[in-house]
Amino acid sequence: MSRENRKLDHVRLALSSEAVQISDFDDLHFVHQSLPEVGLEDIRLDTQIGELVLSSPIFINAMTGGAISTKDINQGLAEVARETGVAMAVGSQRAALANPELIDTYRIVRQINPKGVVIANLGAGASVEDAKQAVEMIEADLLQLHLNVPQEVVMPEGDRDFKGILEAIQRVADEAPVPVIVKEVGFGMCRETYEQLKSIGVKIVDVGGRGGTNFISIENQRRSRQEYSHLSGWGQSTAISLLEADGFSDLEFIASGGVRNSLDVAKCLALGAKGVGVAGPILRIFSEQGIEGAVQVIESWHEQLRAVMTLLGAQSLAELKKVPVVIMGRTKEWCELRGID
Ligand code: FNR
Repeated sequence: MSRENRKLDHVRLALSSEAVQISDFDDLHFVHQSLPEVGLEDIRLDTQIGELVLSSPIFINAMTGGAISTKDINQGLAEVARETGVAMAVGSQRAALANPELIDTYRIVRQINPKGVVIANLGAGASVEDAKQAVEMIEADLLQLHLNVPQEVVMPEGDRDFKGILEAIQRVADEAPVPVIVKEVGFGMCRETYEQLKSIGVKIVDVGGRGGTNFISIENQRRSRQEYSHLSGWGQSTAISLLEADGFSDLEFIASGGVRNSLDVAKCLALGAKGVGVAGPILRIFSEQGIEGAVQVIESWHEQLRAVMTLLGAQSLAELKKVPVVIMGRTKEWCELRGID
């Protein structure tokens, strides 16, 4: 199985998976305020990740590039990012480092959106040299290093040795020309992982939680005997991963994984996330309704986020972070059993 075919499988299988209906976000509840004392026009959505100021916390998370036909997807998504002013990550650039003919499938994102915030992406074992090349390839503002051990284990042709990754991350975080985000790809993170990342000087973490695109299911469908379906519920949801972040004031958190709508975005921000990444749902809308449809959805999410912040009396994301969130159900139980306040 070539790497290019795998990229196409990922897009095809992500598009054919069902949109998620039930989620741990449903365990999180805002408390309606009848006297919010703000107006919709007062609401500001700008956020800061590291030194970078973004006009919106919503961004298009890492998906593709690396097969000739994925260039069109990256081109379309980059147009969506440019029209809506959101940041955009590309998929893993490993393919282009191995085969320079594929560089254009990523570089198109920068060509389409010269002034936008663009995020490079590599696996977390990458060398400093590879990281520098990936950033340079698309003149990236940030670099994501992805952690995806469950995906690799279930992927028929995946990696089998995961030693030395923390040290590799440390080297890249120390020497990369742009700030590094360590991200999961839909399995979430926990306090022990945050502790490890903090210990090596990582500053920005995308929790990449369970609840949306599921790479155990996707890789399992690529196996002839599909013997890994029992692991499809593996990992922590995005809500739980954010709650696990309690007390890590030295780290900046980004939320992603299973974000279904603007209310989920607001919940992530209320739990302290500085940005909210969306991958599969944007790919699905883009493939069904094109650039215009995806632009409309992101714009309506911005409007709806302003509406929810108005209901809560929160004029800025800093104020949204302070509003009370009531935690119920399984998510509450998890917090109690893990000693999270
Ligand atoms: C991804 N994702 C991903 N992540 C990453 O860091 N590097 C990558 O190359 C890819 N490739 C990729 C391909 C496709 C088709 C999809 C849908 C996703 C993972 C993505 O960035 C995100 O972490 C997960 O998809 C969870 O978010 P959603 O899809 O639930 O919003």
